[in-house]
Parts: sequence; C-alpha cells; structure tokens
Amino acid sequence: MGFHQAKNCLTVFLAVLPVLCRALTPPGCFGSDGNYYNPGDPMTSTNPCEVDCICKGPGEIECNKIGCEIPACENPITVEGSCCPVCQCEQDGVIYNPGDAMYSDNPCEASCFCGNDGQRVCAVMSCIPCENPIHIDGECCPRCICNESGQIYNIGDAMHSDNPCEASCFCGNDGQRVCAMMACLPCENPIHVDGECCPRCVCKQDEQIYNVGEIIDHDPCHPCQCQLDGTITCETIECPNITCRYRVHPKESCCPICQCMRKYKRYLPGQIVVNSTCKPQVCQPDGSIKVEPVTCPDLQLQCADPVVPQGKCCPECPNGNTCAYGKYIIRYGEEKVIGTKLCRCWGNPWFPNAFCTETKVSAMLLRYYGKYLAAYNP
Ligand SMILES: *[C@@H]1O[C@H](CO)[C@@H](O)[C@H](O)[C@H]1NC(C)=O
Ligand SMILES: *[C@@H]1O[C@H](CO)[C@@H](O)[C@H](O)[C@H]1NC(C)=O
Ligand SMILES: *[C@@H]1O[C@H](CO)[C@@H](O)[C@H](O)[C@H]1NC(C)=O
Repeated sequence: MGFHQAKNCLTVFLAVLPVLCRALTPPGCFGSDGNYYNPGDPMTSTNPCEVDCICKGPGEIECNKIGCEIPACENPITVEGSCCPVCQCEQDGVIYNPGDAMYSDNPCEASCFCGNDGQRVCAVMSCIPCENPIHIDGECCPRCICNESGQIYNIGDAMHSDNPCEASCFCGNDGQRVCAMMACLPCENPIHVDGECCPRCVCKQDEQIYNVGEIIDHDPCHPCQCQLDGTITCETIECPNITCRYRVHPKESCCPICQCMRKYKRYLPGQIVVNSTCKPQVCQPDGSIKVEPVTCPDLQLQCADPVVPQGKCCPECPNGNTCAYGKYIIRYGEEKVIGTKLCRCWGNPWFPNAFCTETKVSAMLLRYYGKYLAAYNP
C-alpha cells in the first residue's frame, strides 16, 4: 500500500469516527455509583454542593448548586459531607460545632449551645422587677422582700396598714405592699371622720342636716327621704277616692280619712268602738265597724278541767296539771281514792286519763312503782 492509499484510508476513518462513536455511545448517564441512568432520571452527586441532579442526555448531568453564605468568623471550617463552611465555638480550649450544647456558669443563662456564627447562644432568664432585691450567689434572680421602715416581710406575708382605706395588705411579688382598697359610695355631702376611710354621708336642705334614711316631712303629700348618696328624693302621694260619709283630714296626713260613727261619737280607723273583751268592735279604714274576735294562742293545755276565766277570752288551767277519772279531776302528784280504786295521774309530760287500781294491795304497789308509771310516756 502506497502513502496516498494509507492517507485516504485514515481520512475516511477519521470522517466516519464521530458517526461510529455516536452510534456506540449510550443515550443516558453513568453515575458515580457505576449505575446507568436514563435521560430524565434523578441522580445524586458526590459533591455536597450539588443537589437535585438529573441525567439530561448522553453523559450529561445537570444539578442545582447551593449558594453558601460567607460565615462571620475568622477561620470557618467545612465539615465533611456538607457544602457550606461553618464557624465553630471555642470555650476553655474545647471546640464545639454549631448546634452542640455548651456550658455556662452564669445562673441567668440556661440551655446554651454553639450558634452558626461561632458564638454561644443561651436562653436568658428574666427576673421580676423588685423594690428591695437581695442577691444570692449562684441564683440568677434576686430574692425579693418588702422593707417597710426596717420591718422585713417575705412575699405573701400580711402587712399592717395605717390607712383606713387599705384592707388586707400583703407583701407583693415586686417587694411592694399590695392592698385591697375600699371603695366608698359616692356622696353629695360627705363628712370626713378621722380614722374612717369612707366619709359619712348626710343630706342638706335649707341649712338643715338629715341622716341617711331620715324622712323629711314638711308637706305630708310630698314626703322626702335622705338617700344613701346624700341626695333627697321626694314622692307625691295621690289620695284614693273615699266614699265614706264621715271623714276627717288630719293635719299631719296628706289625704282625708274615713271615720266611724256610733251613737253620735266619731272614731278613727283602728279605734275600738265597742269594748267587749273577746269580741271588740273596731273602726275600719272604710268607715265601717267590724267585730275583730280575739284569737287565742294555740297552747296545748295540760289539764282535764280548762276554764275561760271571767273577763278573759282564752281557756286556762285553774288547778295546774290535772287528769280525769270519769267526772273526777285529779292533780298531778296527788293520789285520790275514788270508790274502791286508788287513782293518780301518769304520763310525762301529760296524759288526760288517770291510772287507777283496786285499793289495798294496789295502793302499796302504786306507792312503790308510781314513779315509774309517772315516767312512762305512751
Ligand atoms: C430596710 O430599710 C432600712 C431603711 O428604712 C434599711 O436601713 C435596711 O437596711 C433595710 N433592710 C434590708 C434587709 O434591706
Ligand atoms: C277619683 O274620682 C275622680 C272623679 O270622680 C276620677 O277622675 C279619678 O280618676 C278617681 N281617682 C281614682 C284614683 O279612682
Ligand atoms: C276595754 O275594757 C277594759 C276593761 O273594762 C279596759 O281595761 C280597757 O282599757 C278597755 N280598752 C279600751 C280600748 O277602751
């Protein structure tokens, strides 16, 4: 083969080579793990700064690149397997990575850790403001007390107060006295009294002073009253239409009132017209006269012989406690021979019928056992 022949062959070979290569190259990608991925398949990259990789075409891989912020510290480090450089914290010669828990000897700092900027980050306790703080070594917040002119109170302790308007005082969380303040009612004419919180309230009218509740009765048809707040309120009385024949208008009352007439004598409502002990007749507001019978108290009389004494309306026991055997009346504590029987009262406190037995033998029995009988209550 001559030189020209060889040259021609090489030219043809070189011209055919890309076509040949294309024909021999697969359409997908080979990953770093040695696996083959089809176009469009998601892939992972060995570079931690590349994410969301995809096989695009033959051997072509496309990824998103992570943009790192420049850390604030002087000597940032890049931790293996992560993309961006970070700062480390250093404390007492010990190196901490971001996120590591760190120690603090400040009692006000809690749950400290190494921050991304290489600085220690801690939760800082906040203390309640205090009037009289007492600092204690190793404690973040000062103890709080109340100090009232040298007198020391712990928080929650009851405290004395000279102010009559302060009630139930105690030492508050902030070292200051806390009291319930009395509320005074509003008053038109307050009168201050030493040692009392709320002023006394009175009403004033025409140079006159009236106490709360007092009736001011210059005009009987417009009675006025001193109110709690020191004001005076009045009402207007409207008189009812009265139809009675005899009437009178007393000076001190607003309205005319009825009178009762009996034997040419006039009576006011409530007055006794006929004075009968048990059935008095009384003048009524409408001018009529009515019997108002006396009602007897509902007493349990303890006798078998009640009577209504002369000049009285209600029954009484004239002989004290008594019981009866037939028509015979026996006093309590007494023994009475009735025919062949010996009788006495029994029952405690009272029984209306006597207990009787044949005399002789029974008289003796009764004398011995009488007290038990008397105590027996059926
Ligand atoms: C309480 O207050 C008095 C002055 O009123 C002061 O002399 C004293 O030291 C205080 N005590 C405390 C424990 O703070
Ligand atoms: C009283 O009588 C008058 C006239 O007879 C009448 O106008 C008035 O309404 C009556 N008042 C009452 C409270 O009944
Ligand atoms: C009624 O009569 C009795 C006895 O006669 C007398 O004591 C009493 O005061 C009289 N009462 C009145 C309201 O007249």
